Amino acid sequence: MSSIAHVKLAPSILAADFARLGEQVVEADKAGADRIHVDVMDGAFVPNLSMGPMVVESLRQITHLPLETHLMVSDPDLFLDDFAAAGSDSFLVHWEGNHNLHRTVQRIKALGKRAGVAINPATPAAVLEEIVQDVDLVLVMTVNPGFGHQQFIGTSVPKIARVRELIQRLKPGCELEVDGGIDATTAPLVVRAGATVLVAGSAVFGAPEGVTTALTRLHAATNISETETELAEQSAL
Ligand code: DX5
Ligand code: ZN
Repeated sequence: MSSIAHVKLAPSILAADFARLGEQVVEADKAGADRIHVDVMDGAFVPNLSMGPMVVESLRQITHLPLETHLMVSDPDLFLDDFAAAGSDSFLVHWEGNHNLHRTVQRIKALGKRAGVAINPATPAAVLEEIVQDVDLVLVMTVNPGFGHQQFIGTSVPKIARVRELIQRLKPGCELEVDGGIDATTAPLVVRAGATVLVAGSAVFGAPEGVTTALTRLHAATNISETETELAEQSAL
């Protein structure tokens, strides 16, 4: 399955040096990043605060890469219009705590943006069953949301495989993205399990050797053979 073998990288600016944000995003763009991941936190859904639409508006001026907005907020509907106007291309909204998830997804689509649903580490893959057909991507959190530079949760790997199976059954074109603790060591594990898009914060913007070298290394780590991926996928089913 060739779509599985082409893995996209989404550097998360949460780990960037905010005094040099534009410069670092331009470097990631030139080094082959596929999209830029923007982590939005409200201090309520997660115990941390991060950034608002102004950051997206500024980044929109300096890169043509898709800007994906990961809304770790209690009421995502409140912020969709402002982020869309600022230049967000896609939204990742959480299954947890959203009693009207289908409505949120429809609002995102009505804005002409791509819609994704994110699930936390303790949330089972099966909750996606009734929403996957309405979304363009699914995000499996491989750490608890709220902070960068946390340790990858190993039990996420079989869960990613279960999400892959669900996607193949219900919506084969849906992207499977993973977020948290992704580096050159964990990347092959999640790709073998069926991930097609990898978010990486500290492994890209926090790498001492710089953004370009870090992205090159991460790309190399995801480059597992198509045959190997297919075999892994079959054994996971
Ligand atoms: C965590 C965020 C992640 C975070 C990943 O709440 O959703 O996108 O930036 O950071 P790393 O790659 O450092 O784990
Ligand atoms: Zn994120």
